[in-house]
Amino acid sequence: MSNPHIRMELPGPKARAMIARDTLVASPSYPRDYPFVISHGRGTEAWDVDGNRFLDFAAGIAVCATGHAHPAVVAAVREAAGKFLHISSDYWHEGMTALAERLAALAPMGEPVMSFLCQSGTESVEGALKLARYVTGRQRIIAFLGGFHGRTMGSLALTSSKYTQQAGFSPVMPGVTHVPYPNIYRPLFAGSDQGKAVLDYIRMLFERNLPATEVAAIVVEPIQGEGGYLVPPDGFLAGLRDICDEYGIFLVFDEVQSGVGRSGRMFACEHSGVRPDIMTLAKGLGSGLPIGAVVAKRRIMQQWKRGAHGNTFGGNPLCCAAANTTLDLVRDQYAANAAKVGAHFMARLKELAKSYSCIGDVRGRGLMLGIELIKPDGGPDRPLVESMLHRGYHNGVLLLSCGVSTLRFMPPLCVTEAEVDEAVVLLRKSLDEALAGPA
Ligand SMILES: Cc1ncc(COP(=O)(O)O)c(C=O)c1O
Repeated sequence: MSNPHIRMELPGPKARAMIARDTLVASPSYPRDYPFVISHGRGTEAWDVDGNRFLDFAAGIAVCATGHAHPAVVAAVREAAGKFLHISSDYWHEGMTALAERLAALAPMGEPVMSFLCQSGTESVEGALKLARYVTGRQRIIAFLGGFHGRTMGSLALTSSKYTQQAGFSPVMPGVTHVPYPNIYRPLFAGSDQGKAVLDYIRMLFERNLPATEVAAIVVEPIQGEGGYLVPPDGFLAGLRDICDEYGIFLVFDEVQSGVGRSGRMFACEHSGVRPDIMTLAKGLGSGLPIGAVVAKRRIMQQWKRGAHGNTFGGNPLCCAAANTTLDLVRDQYAANAAKVGAHFMARLKELAKSYSCIGDVRGRGLMLGIELIKPDGGPDRPLVESMLHRGYHNGVLLLSCGVSTLRFMPPLCVTEAEVDEAVVLLRKSLDEALAGPA
């Protein structure tokens, strides 16, 4: 059965013409997988310039939290744009203060917090690093293998989900020690408790190699995103909290991808009940408008002196309007929808795994789900993932990968069960074609 929404051989003529123009003038560094050229979107649907309709299960890399062009978000941005486009973070305005208040009301710290607004995930991580170093007076940072935190020199030093991300850019910020992230499906340590093994490893480092008194922060994704959509085992985040408390280290949760409802709760760390000292946000926060935030316990952030950190665009009124509306929608409906539809999607993927032995693992939380594709010998099947990205596109569903061989699904948080079912049909078709070999 072919998808009635795909009207032609892809890419269509308009998409081909645009990409030909773009190839001459745009950086080739963008890691683009297939030639989708958007014309417009609505909710979970997106149309290309040739009029083909796709289900968007990539959501602009987990950004379009409320779907494409949510009417309430668009109206809030329009209204803000009619008043002023920019004033800078050297001044005050209602939207900016209201956003910091919303973040204070929602933050998982269990005590008063303050926020510093910026434009992206990488900047929020840079801000967290600077805050942790400034306040503790310590230099070293612990991060995790497979982690992704951004591509500027500080956050890049933490990033290690693919070797290409650091290749050619050394020296990045010094002082970072990477430790394994617990992986239940592909355990690195002996024994059944991978979380405890990593915690023991960190304690061993403190005894032998790394002075704990020099460590400013442990920076961790509560669900590892780019590294493969890994959900840590129970007790792992709590164990990190204990280590941080014991040694006066700040626990930083990078919720850039997992936050703002994606996991089925407002923040992924809420599944564990563990409270960070500092949290970073971006991606879904503005439903597509570029905004990030460093959210920290007030007693930590208030130690930043005037001028210690700043920016020009932080708190942009259009971005704040989008973020305020997004947070209200996610708090009131979409986090719950992510939990409900995510559970349905997870069940459908587990069902799919029963008919396809190339699906080695199904994992994730809420609408942050992935399937690890494997070869008959159990090893990662990267070529199959690449083939699936292309087949998915040709069949009308936009997908991305993560980790070594994981196909990931992060649709808008407003996705319906019917749309998930439609995507699963397209996935099945794509799997059948990909397994049959080159067309
Ligand atoms: C967990 C995490 N942190 C930080 C970033 C960097 O965000 P940005 O691309 O907005 O700089 C990402 C991006 O994928 C991410 O997934």
